[in-house]
Parts: sequence; C-alpha cells; structure tokens
Amino acid sequence: MQQFISQFPSLVGQTATIKGWAYNVRSSGKIAFLQIRDGSGFVQAVCVQNQVDEITWNRALEVTLESSVVVTGIVTKHPKHDDVFELQVTSLEIIQKAEEYPIGKKEHGPDFLLDNRHLWLRAPSQWAIQRVRNQIILATYDWFRDNNFIKIDSPILTPNACEGTTELFEINYFEERKAYLSQSGQLYIEAAIASVGRCFDFGPVFRAEKSKTRRHLTEFWMMDAEAAFVDHEGNMQIQEQLISFIVKRVLETCQTELKILERDQEPLKKVVAPFYHMTHAEAIKILREKGSDIGDMDDLGADDETILTQMYDKPIFVEKYPSEVKAFYMKRDPQDPRYVLNSDLLAPEGYGEIIGGSQREDDYDELIKRVREHNLPEKEFQWYLDLRKYGSVPHSGFGYGLERIVGWICGLHHVRETIPFPRLMNRLEP
Ligand code: 4AD
Ligand code: MG
Repeated sequence: MQQFISQFPSLVGQTATIKGWAYNVRSSGKIAFLQIRDGSGFVQAVCVQNQVDEITWNRALEVTLESSVVVTGIVTKHPKHDDVFELQVTSLEIIQKAEEYPIGKKEHGPDFLLDNRHLWLRAPSQWAIQRVRNQIILATYDWFRDNNFIKIDSPILTPNACEGTTELFEINYFEERKAYLSQSGQLYIEAAIASVGRCFDFGPVFRAEKSKTRRHLTEFWMMDAEAAFVDHEGNMQIQEQLISFIVKRVLETCQTELKILERDQEPLKKVVAPFYHMTHAEAIKILREKGSDIGDMDDLGADDETILTQMYDKPIFVEKYPSEVKAFYMKRDPQDPRYVLNSDLLAPEGYGEIIGGSQREDDYDELIKRVREHNLPEKEFQWYLDLRKYGSVPHSGFGYGLERIVGWICGLHHVRETIPFPRLMNRLEP
C-alpha cells in the first residue's frame, strides 16, 4: 500500500507508507528528522532512536539529501501548527542512497540552476510553479468545454508563416521544399470553425526571435481559440471570461503553491471581468505624457507595456493597432482602415502582453491584397484563401502564451522558470 502526503489530514492516528525523496535531513542525538517530498506534498518524518529497531535507526542516519526512500509511520498532527502533519517513523527503506547533491541550500545563480534544470525542478518553488501551470491548463480546458468550444489539434510542421517570416525555424526534410515549425495554429483552426463552430488548440510553438528578454522563449506553449460569428467586441468578452475563470481557479486550488511562491494574492483577486480598454492611440497618448518618445504608428515595446500595466489594477485590452505593425490576417477597422480590429491583452503589475487576438479578414479580395502586401507566397496560402470563398463568415480569435500567464499568476520575474525545460536563444540543454 502507498499513501500520499496530501491525504494526511484524513489519516491522523493511522499508519501510512509514503514513497518519495528526502529533501532535507538532520539529526540531533537520539532523533532524526527527514523532510520527505512525495510529489503530492511535503512532510517531516520523525525517527526516534528508542522507538525503532536498530536497522531502521541506522538507515535514518544514513539517508542523504535527495535519497529515495519508503517510510512507514503513524500520521500525527503538529502540536503547534494546524494543517501541519508529521509522520512518526516505524520503519524505513532506502531505495537509492543519493550521491552528494549539487544544489545546496546556499543561493545559486540562474545559470547554475538552469544548467541543473533536471534537478532544480524538484525545488519546492519549481514544484509550485508546475502545479499552478497544470491548474491553468485544466481550467482552460474546462472553460472551453463549458462554453461550446471543442479542441482541434493543429499541425506543427507547416509550409508557411502565421505570424511573420523573420521568426521561422526552417526544416530541411521534405524534398525540394522547405517546411517550418509552427508559430501558431491559428490559420488551421480558422479552417476548422466552418466544421465545428468554435474551437481551440493547445501545443508547442516556435519563434526564432533574436530576443533575449524575460518574456521570450524560442519554444513555448500557445493556446489559440477561434469562433465563427464573433466580432472584435465578442472576442474580447471571451478572453476576459476565460482569464477571470483561470485566475479564480488558481486562487481556489493553489493556496499552498502561491504561499510557497510568496505571491501577493490581492492583485489576483481583482482580476474579474470586465477588464479595462484603451485604443492604441490612447495608449500612445498616455505613454507620451509619461515621457516616452513613442511614435503614433509604433508598436508598443515591452517597456511601454510595463509602464501602462503598472497604472491599472486589472488587465487592459489595447485595441486597434496600426495595421503596419500587425499580422496580415487582421481585419481593418472600417472607421479608419489605417488600424486593425485587434486587441492585445496586457496583464497588470508590469507583466504586459499575455494574449494577442483580432477579428479576421473574411473577404477574399481584401485578404489576397494583404497576402501580396506582406510578400507571402500566394500558392502556400491558397487553402487559407479558399476559406473566404466557401461560406466565409465574420470570425475572431486569439492566442495566449501559457508561460506568460504562468509567470504573471505566480509573480515570477522571468518566463524561463514557468516551463519545465526552457529553450532560449542561448539554451538548448538539459
Ligand atoms: O501575439 P502572438 O504572436 O499572436 C499569435 O500568434 C496569433 N496567431 C494568436 C491567435 O490569434 N490565435 O502570440 C500570442 C501570445 C502572446 O500574446 C504571448 O503571450 C505569447 O503568445 N508569446 C510568447 N511567449 C513566450 N515567448 C515568446 N517568444 C512569445 N511570443 C508570443
Ligand atoms: Mg502579440
């Protein structure tokens, strides 16, 4: 039998066997304290010399940091702290005695930790981040299921660019032609809406950006959503409902994790729809008042987003960017065709863009103009253009960057901690 530490509240007074790793060990004379982690939680196992046989006592002294162990004992409540449980050891087995563990208690630099990512993943903070990430994924699936979206899987090997040709990873495998790793599944789920109405995908995407910032990964997980008969306004309502739902779910299910991460939860509690809105033009005005020299038709940079999102206590939709800084598929604003019907959703507390979305160009003639203006290969885009020939409908969608959302909700400085094995411009290992 195996019990999990997370079950301890209902096991008080009973014998339990847990299987895990010793993440801290110390002994003082006749008592050994083994901090055990089993994946579901953390607990202190207390081994008292005169209450166990000699073999067990000697094993308790032999356990090294990160040794794998099976521990049996009686579950007790901590005498002073509610919600804290202990295991009074009756027997102990060492599965593998660990060699001297390279990650110590002293502070390590980020490069050392990233080089040892395969081990660093075990740290309580990293455990907490992956558990929050998991809840965000589950909440996303739940929200879509409850709101009539189905999951449609997009391909990763593609013949064309979705977001921009400068950031493509090239594959030389297919004879006589180049293929690329997907930057976003959007174009494919646009095809699927004429079959299923509303859908989303969720998978790894690749950006060969030469960006070394705290927000950029070269491989990250994107969730794209797309819905038929939804306009720009409706698109933003879907996003704010989804994000509010995700944040609420994390607050409900990840209290232990957020406490380990020392995340201030007050700002998260304010993340309730409706969110704030401003146009790109309004954002530029505010930024100039704050001393920026940003031009009317410039894209917002990371620093601009930081300034804006430190001014508000909820996420902000920045709408209607200049068409020239955005992707070819975005529909022009009929009131001023220099701009597009898009929105970037910026997370508060200085985090910045977590979602990019727009209403899509649904007119064949307009879209082919855009393909040509962007110098995209018409032949490879023929299937996408076809969608505008056979029952084209107004439609909109968006994509979120999972790591950006995890980073914001966990209150982390850099996205590299949010993904189990980060890929950055200068990092492919471990
Ligand atoms: O804004 P992006 O480039 O939008 C698209 O790819 C659209 N096709 C999505 C759609 O409409 N279906 O990327 C979407 C999100 C960004 O808002 C950001 O959160 C994240 O993906 N993202 C990155 N995350 C980590 N590292 C990078 N290099 C990222 N680039 C974008
Ligand atoms: Mg974007």
